[in-house]
Amino acid sequence: MPHPHSHPPGGDHADLLDLDAQVLGGYLEELVGWTAGLAPAEVRTVVDVGAGTGVGAVALARRFDAAEVVALDRSELMLQRTLAAAAGAGVADRVRAEPADLDTEWPSSVDRADVVWASSSLHEVADPERLLSDVLAALLPGGLLVVVEIDGLPRVLPDDVGAGLGERCTVALLEAGWNHHPDWAPLLQRAGFEQVDRRTVVSGSSADPAATSRFARAWLRRMRRGLDGRLPADDLALLDSILVDPASDFVVRGCRTAWAARRPLSSGGSR
Ligand SMILES: C[S@@+](CC[C@H](N)C(=O)[O-])C[C@H]1O[C@@H](n2cnc3c(N)ncnc32)[C@H](O)[C@@H]1O
Repeated sequence: MPHPHSHPPGGDHADLLDLDAQVLGGYLEELVGWTAGLAPAEVRTVVDVGAGTGVGAVALARRFDAAEVVALDRSELMLQRTLAAAAGAGVADRVRAEPADLDTEWPSSVDRADVVWASSSLHEVADPERLLSDVLAALLPGGLLVVVEIDGLPRVLPDDVGAGLGERCTVALLEAGWNHHPDWAPLLQRAGFEQVDRRTVVSGSSADPAATSRFARAWLRRMRRGLDGRLPADDLALLDSILVDPASDFVVRGCRTAWAARRPLSSGGSR
């Protein structure tokens, strides 16, 4: 997703995150299952860093059914959405929302985590290296950090539309720095983590066509706002006509990479 400083989170962004989970969420169950297989034997506290609308927090609460999940976000709106999602999923008693601006500091009350999950959020903070040090200190020795990022950007236009218009949109937005993230492995190592594993998951649209279309249109509208001056006028005109045509056809494909890293057992006590 675009950097929050250029797109402050609002209702549109929150709706898009929920639609993403509905349409491309196949990755979530797989990565949460993978996380469970790598996590310490006993998981009491899971922290969701930059929880957004809570799709991860809810999946984690379901999987780690004896754990408390602490959802961190600087957006009050997102935290409210997380609590509503937790209530809807019947896990509200184990999901706690904690307002925190991670550009400023890590919340001191969150200091004995077994698992930390950071999905599409590490690249959004001002100083990811400092945040990784804070996460390391907040994890118990042997605790697990999972970082998830979107690879590229979701694809919603069939390849033949506008002879590769979707690809040109993606390239233009990546060049504009949308969703930019590094390979986190060297930074995890520098922060003091042991890298455990890495996994890439491709998800396609398995949701109903109406949800696919809602996601595709919401995503295209969001992309369109960033494309002025970055694509030729006829490409932009085609995009606009696709957006207003109720018969437009969409496909949805997405790809995520996850890194799993552990706090070494020998790195001293947690704070
Ligand atoms: C792209 S969303 C990802 C949400 C969710 N993890 C998911 O995968 O759907 C990034 C989230 O990180 C939050 N965020 C960004 N910078 C933050 C910061 N400095 N402190 C706390 N939260 C932040 C945003 O408010 C937003 O909810």
